[in-house]
Amino acid sequence: MPRPRVLSGVQPTGALHLGNWLGAIRNWVDLQDTHDTFVCVVDLHAITVPHDPAQLAGDTRSTAALYLACGMDPERCSVFIQSQIAAHSELCWLLNCVTPLNWLERMIQFKEKSVKQGDNVSVGLLDYPVLMAADILLYDADLVPVGEDQKQHLELARDIAQQRINARFGSEELPVLNVPKPLILKEGARVMSLTDGRSKMSKSDPNEGSRITLLDPPELITKKIKRAKTDPQMGLEFDNPERPETHNLLSLYAILSGQGREAAAAECAEMGWGTFKPLLAEATVAALEPIQARHRELMNDPAELDQVLDQGRQKAENVANATLERVRKSLGFSPRH
Ligand code: TYM
Repeated sequence: MPRPRVLSGVQPTGALHLGNWLGAIRNWVDLQDTHDTFVCVVDLHAITVPHDPAQLAGDTRSTAALYLACGMDPERCSVFIQSQIAAHSELCWLLNCVTPLNWLERMIQFKEKSVKQGDNVSVGLLDYPVLMAADILLYDADLVPVGEDQKQHLELARDIAQQRINARFGSEELPVLNVPKPLILKEGARVMSLTDGRSKMSKSDPNEGSRITLLDPPELITKKIKRAKTDPQMGLEFDNPERPETHNLLSLYAILSGQGREAAAAECAEMGWGTFKPLLAEATVAALEPIQARHRELMNDPAELDQVLDQGRQKAENVANATLERVRKSLGFSPRH
């Protein structure tokens, strides 16, 4: 029996933050042992908002190095760069032609991001979820581990596969595309901003104090946590809707200290902020220290990273090209070879 497939990715827009790690990458690491796992750096997605060409290639490599530093093992998974496999753009075009425009106009992330862009909203920003669907569908992914904010995009990918491709161009016995499922774990699926417990931690927040990146040095982590928004109440607790910042910081502590929800809740039930914040800072620094050390090593050894990405690209390209050919055929194109 072939192992079930996993596909996921992160945009190389600036340094990845705790939300990207705890909501997504951490879950990929666990899946490599049981699933045929593909993870890519989605650099084509990174240009859907204005970007700096001088940063793109470097950020893309650094993101790939972070995947490895977080525990992705090239012996057990394929790590590759999205733009290096042309099938992603090509399948995106084919899917564009069957996806209703109003499905894309409904996307919450598009609405949120386009408000920030004003008159500069690109067609690419609207089309972003179709490219994401292409990423997933090319690999016949069964499971897509993501944070909560990607749920709607996953539903779109399922609808495109099922309603727009399989129902029209396949048959029940012979579907053209595999219909993927999201994997959203409860813990870490929605890490919130350090400066506002009601909005999610995000790369695009202009306030850098709102997020901890995986490459922040220890002093900066400590400073950001020291300044994180709190409330005047003593004692920390989960799930009090009046105390979103408390819930978020305690959740981070539970995961980063490795002790889990119940033990963290018991330890911090009577604690004041002056005691808690240094504890959280210490747990965060300790959790990130090995990742930062491995990332440094990989960035200092370009040959090793090149080799991993080359191997990942070759394996991914074979799978992607076979799926693309299947879709082309079902849509009526003549074979390429
Ligand atoms: P991106 O780059 O915004 O985020 C990457 C992953 O991190 C998760 N995430 C979070 N999880 C918890 N708390 C947060 N505050 C938080 N912020 C981000 C996201 O849910 C995501 O899993 N469109 C995707 C990238 C993508 C993709 C794909 C993902 C492109 N193609 C195919 C899966 C499969 C995105 O922009 O993620």
